[in-house]
Parts: sequence; structure tokens; C-alpha cells
Amino acid sequence: MVLGSWRFLAAAFAALLLFLHGSCASNKAGPTRTYRFMRDATSAPPVSYYDYIVIGGGTAGCPLAATLSHNASVLLLERGGSPYGNRNITDLEAFGAALSDLSPSSPSQRFISEDGVINARARVLGGGSCLNAGFYTRAAPEYVRNVGWDGKLVNESYAWVERLVAFQPKMRQWQTAVRDGLLEIGIVPDNGFTYDHIPGTKVGGSIFDESGQRHTAADLLEYANPRGIAVLLHAYVHRILFKRRGTVRPVARGVVFRDSAGAKHRAYLRRGPRNEVIVSAGALGSPQLLMLSGLGPKAHLQAHNISLVLDQPMVGQGMSDNPMNAVFIPSPKPVEVSLIQVVGITQFGSFIEAASGENFGGSVSSKDYGMFSPKIGQLATVPPKQRTPEALAKAIEDMKSLDSSAFQGGFILEKITGPLSTGHMELRSRNPKDNPSVTFNYFQDPDDLRKCVEGILTIERVIDSKAFAAFKYDSMTFESLLNLTLSAPVNLRPRHQNTTTSVEQFCRDSVMTIWHYHGGCQVGMVVDREYRVLGVDALRVIDGSTFNHSPGTNPQATVMMLGRYMGVKILSERLASEAA
Ligand SMILES: Cc1cc2nc3c(=O)[nH]c(=O)nc-3n(C[C@H](O)[C@H](O)[C@H](O)COP(=O)(O)OP(=O)(O)OC[C@H]3O[C@@H](n4cnc5c(N)ncnc54)[C@H](O)[C@@H]3O)c2cc1C
Ligand SMILES: *[C@@H]1O[C@H](CO)[C@@H](O)[C@H](O)[C@H]1NC(C)=O
Ligand SMILES: *[C@@H]1O[C@H](CO)[C@@H](O)[C@H](O)[C@H]1NC(C)=O
Ligand SMILES: *[C@@H]1O[C@H](CO)[C@@H](O)[C@H](O)[C@H]1NC(C)=O
Ligand SMILES: *[C@@H]1O[C@H](CO)[C@@H](O)[C@H](O)[C@H]1NC(C)=O
Ligand SMILES: *[C@@H]1O[C@H](CO)[C@@H](O)[C@H](O)[C@H]1NC(C)=O
Ligand SMILES: *[C@@H]1O[C@H](CO)[C@@H](O)[C@H](O)[C@H]1NC(C)=O
Repeated sequence: MVLGSWRFLAAAFAALLLFLHGSCASNKAGPTRTYRFMRDATSAPPVSYYDYIVIGGGTAGCPLAATLSHNASVLLLERGGSPYGNRNITDLEAFGAALSDLSPSSPSQRFISEDGVINARARVLGGGSCLNAGFYTRAAPEYVRNVGWDGKLVNESYAWVERLVAFQPKMRQWQTAVRDGLLEIGIVPDNGFTYDHIPGTKVGGSIFDESGQRHTAADLLEYANPRGIAVLLHAYVHRILFKRRGTVRPVARGVVFRDSAGAKHRAYLRRGPRNEVIVSAGALGSPQLLMLSGLGPKAHLQAHNISLVLDQPMVGQGMSDNPMNAVFIPSPKPVEVSLIQVVGITQFGSFIEAASGENFGGSVSSKDYGMFSPKIGQLATVPPKQRTPEALAKAIEDMKSLDSSAFQGGFILEKITGPLSTGHMELRSRNPKDNPSVTFNYFQDPDDLRKCVEGILTIERVIDSKAFAAFKYDSMTFESLLNLTLSAPVNLRPRHQNTTTSVEQFCRDSVMTIWHYHGGCQVGMVVDREYRVLGVDALRVIDGSTFNHSPGTNPQATVMMLGRYMGVKILSERLASEAA
């Protein structure tokens, strides 16, 4: 196929306020609870002792700690606050509100990779599941086999998660048109609604229920044994403490954390051969904390005056972020508000998903907070390295002047599998609150670029399908699109001329994040297949930093599953050793 120089103009990114209308299982509790084992770290004693200390109450840390609490004493330390009662987190219509809140108390901490793509990390109990777009979908059985997990326990662990936090979304017109378009162009078979990862087109799950309320990994603490767990909020871990066993092998023995008033606390492992510190601080937080604790590349740690516990050059290596590229399609008729509900799982390594809608009513405007809004850092109309604060401010300003008709429509996006391109992370300072510097090297591997190009071409075919016809302007040329969107045009469909290189350029220039970044403590490099940190004792890392590739089409189901899965494994080893 012959393709052309894709022109697309300055951005504007619609309006995606999203409500999913799910068919909700009524036995799933609402998102406004509190736990009696949860309190602010200011009330913690200066010194305490536990069997397990879990660092990071995120997407993996919550299910892990909840599981361990059944047969051991567990301390869960989370640097952020509670998600409950914060409508920026719980309400689907507020998607992006937290991501655009740049204050130090925000549940989200913005970071910008060295590539120039604006990104976000969680700072709240429940982690990324409190910020994300909600799509819930399992990893492929092949992924599970390749990693070497026990397939039966994996399936049981997914089911354990799904009982509390996964829902079937209600399909409306626009998402249905995308689904039918995908099927029409041959992304088959039609797999209906399923959590499973199967090539073809499907409707996936969501952590938003029928009333648009978010359920998060923090809800999995409902499963905890209240007598076996303490959850501390605003507990910022600064360092893992080690002692030397003999003269060679360091062994983790506790952590230092500070509360919101700056007071220092120490938590130690109780005596016992099975007791452990477990790091679940996410793909930026976990490698950062290992480095701050003296595990990492020697020269780098020395440059920061961190005393070396173990020279481990692989800590912070293998960082990846799956690039996301999207096309905005103005619609002649109103479309529903939706987040991701449908996915086309292609044979060539690209996943096609979509989000639609507009909402200018109420207290929150999607014009501000949509999934593709510059307010949350999504700026596709200038190339990554040009996404300066000024460019961002200008895009936000331009959006304000847009007529609401410019927001009627939706985005079809693609995420590539893998990716194969990798980068690395480094400390900027010794302050755990500072973001480390991270480089993802988007599209460095030509295969990643090829997957993007094929994904964008697939999106074009969906737009041209009969099923989608009602949601695009039939006669719309590039010029008429321009005219329609007038003062601040949205991302435009590419104009077909001739060179594929221009599609490649489109991929590079419009790359955004889908926030599925991972790596930094990968299996085989930093941890073994049981997630034990290589070269030291009594320390594991369990979260998305251990992944070599992003699981499934979207990772959160597998991150939560992994927390449960490893909790069960660790407890069964513990029981076996006690019986022996
Ligand atoms: C905006 C957005 C949209 C997304 N959309 C989707 C989607 O639709 N579907 C999907 O499947 N996935 C989605 N994802 C990705 C998914 O949410 C993440 O991959 C997942 O949440 C990562 O889990 P984790 O446990 O590795 O890290 P996190 O959930 O980030 O957990 C790490 C936790 O550790 C805490 N922490 C870090 N450092 C410290 C410290 N020093 N002391 C104490 N605590 C600390 C953090 O506050 C955080 O709570 C999205 C992510 C984002 C941000
Ligand atoms: C806890 O231990 C008991 C036996 O002491 C065992 O029956 C139970 O399955 C264990 N629970 C978990 C979650 O491993
Ligand atoms: C919600 O988000 C808005 C916009 O980012 C912010 O101004 C407000 O303080 C947030 N509220 C809470 C409770 O976090
Ligand atoms: C796990 O479930 C998936 C479907 O969700 C199935 O394909 C797979 O065979 C199951 N694995 C095991 C070991 O039961
Ligand atoms: C490390 O310590 C040396 C000597 O005390 C000091 O000169 C240097 O600035 C320190 N470097 C950092 C990054 O703190
Ligand atoms: C777009 O608008 C310009 C000027 O406003 C006009 O000259 C041109 O004919 C229009 N093009 C289309 C395709 O409508
Ligand atoms: C596109 O390429 C084809 C074949 O290579 C050529 O015939 C055609 O003229 C080209 N079109 C444009 C607009 O360059």
C-alpha cells in the first residue's frame, strides 16, 4: 500500500470522559471502605518487627500483603495515602484528574523520560490501579509458559483477583462499531467477552463497575487477615537495611522509612529463616530503592556516595515502555463516552484499542482530563523532545478555544507487544522522592517500528470499514478535516500518498505512553525465577519491574495476579519448612 506524508496538526485531544456501564456483580463491595489495620505512619512506633515487610502498597503489593497476612505477620508500607473517598480516583468521569494534579500530595507523580515522553507513576495505596484506564485482561497462556509460572496457580490467582475487582463493560454504539470494524477487516475470530488473551477481537474486562466506580488493588486488602497485617500510609521507605552473613553474602534485615512529619522509623524482620523484605515499589521505584540501598552498578553508586552492598550492574537495566500511537476520528453524530472496552489482538504484534466521547457538563470536563489531553501530559502533535513546558501550556490553551464540536468523536489507538527496545534507569539524587532518570529508547528496534506502522495501517482500515461508516465523515478529505477542526485541529488521519517512511515518522513523532512501562529488576538479571534478588538473602522484588515484556494486551491483571501468586507460593514454602 502506498502511503503518504502524514500531516497532522497541533493537538487537541478530545474529551474522553468515560463511563463504562458494566454489568456489575452485586456482591462486589463498593469503593468507599476503610480498614482497621490501616493507619497513618505518624502513629507507627520508632521500631517494630514483622515476618514480612512489603515496600509499596501498589498493584502487586496489596494482593501480596493480603495473602501473606494469613499465615505470617506483615507490614505494608505505602508512600501515598488512601484511595478511598477521593473522587479523582474512584469516579470514572474524573479519569485524568489525578494525572493532571502535580502537587506533592497528588496520587500521581509525573515524570518525563529522557526520550521526552511525559509519563506518570502512582503514589497511592492501590498504585497504578488507582490511576489507570481500567482495562482488565489476562496474559496469554504462552506468556505464562515462557515465564515459567505454574499455570494452574496462575489461573486460580487471576480468579481470586477477578472475584473482587473485574467487571464486564456494557457495549454501546461506538465501541461496537470499532469491534465490528476490527472483525470486518479480518482481526478474527470474534471472541466475545472474555478476560482471556486470544488472537482475534474481544471485549475485555474493566475495574470500573456499572456505576462508573473504580475498584482497585487496594480492595484486595479486603482478603487480608486483620490480625496478620499493618498497613501504613505516607510511609516513605528510604533504605533497605542489610547485615553481612559471614563475610560474603548480605542479608536484608529491615527498612528505614519516614512519615509525613519527617520522623524516622525502623522496621526489622523477626528472627526466622523464611522472613523477608519484599520490594513492590513499581518499575521506577523498585530499581531506585535497590540502588539507594547499595545494590546496583558500583561506579554509579559511588558517584552518589552510596555505600556499596553489592555490585549489581543489571539493576535499572532493561527498562521498557510500550509506545502508544493514536488517531482521532471526528464523528458526525454524538458518540458515547467510553474508556477501553474492545481490543483487536493482531497476528503481527500490535493491539488495537479505542476510547470515545465527550463530556462538557458537570464539574469535570473531559476537555481537561481525557485520556489524550495535554493536561495529563499527552501531547502527540509535537515530537517528544519538543514537548517542553511551553509547548504543553500552549496545547492546553489551544484546547480551551476549541468549539465543542471538535471533541465529538473518538480515538483508535495501538500499542505494540513487547517492546524489544530497552533502556535504563539512573539515580538523579539520593532523595527517594526525586524521580530517577529513565530512558526507554522507543522504536530503537526496527521491529517495534514495523509493528507500529502495521498497527496504524490497521486503524485506517477500521476507519474505512462499513461497520464504522456512521462515525466518520464520509467525504472528509484532509482539507475538510482541517476546516472542520479549524482553530486548533485534532490529530488527523494520515493522508495517503506514497512513502511508508512517513508512517514511520508519524509513529516516532506522535508517540505517547500507554503507561505500561516495566523492567529494571528483571528475572534472570536482578532476581531469580522465584523473584529472589540475586546475590543477597531475604530480599525479593515482586511487581512490574520484573517483567521482560508487558503481559497480555494491558498488564494490570497480571500484576495483581503475580502478587497473589507469589503470596501463595511464599506461604507454602514457609509451611513446608515449618513442617520439616
Ligand atoms: C494512567 C495509567 C493508565 C493505565 N491504564 C491501564 C489499563 O487500562 N489497563 C492495564 O492493565 N494497565 C494500565 N496501566 C498500567 C498498570 O496500572 C501498571 O502496569 C501497574 O499498576 C503497575 O503495578 P506495580 O505494582 O508494578 O506498580 P505500582 O502499582 O505503581 O505500585 C508501586 C507502589 O509503590 C509505592 N512506592 C514507590 N516507592 C516507594 C517508597 N520508597 N516507599 C513506599 N512506597 C513506595 C508507590 O506509591 C506505589 O503505590 C495504566 C497505568 C497508568 C499510570
Ligand atoms: C495457612 O496455614 C494453614 C496450616 O497452618 C493452611 O491450612 C492454610 O492453607 C494456610 N493458608 C495459606 C493462605 O497459605
Ligand atoms: C482532584 O483533581 C483536581 C485537578 O487535578 C485537583 O485540583 C484537586 O485538588 C484533586 N482533589 C483531590 C481530593 O485530590
Ligand atoms: C488457564 O486458563 C486459560 C484460559 O483462561 C486456559 O487456556 C489454560 O489452559 C489454563 N491453564 C491451566 C494450567 O489450567
Ligand atoms: C560525595 O562525597 C564527596 C566527598 O565528601 C563530595 O565532595 C561530593 O560532592 C559527594 N557527592 C555527592 C553526589 O553527594
Ligand atoms: C477549507 O477552507 C478554506 C478556507 O477557509 C477553503 O479555501 C477551502 O476550500 C476549504 N476546503 C475544503 C475541502 O472544504
Ligand atoms: C505512488 O506510487 C505509485 C507507484 O509507486 C506511483 O504510480 C504514483 O504516482 C505515486 N503517487 C504519488 C502521489 O506520488
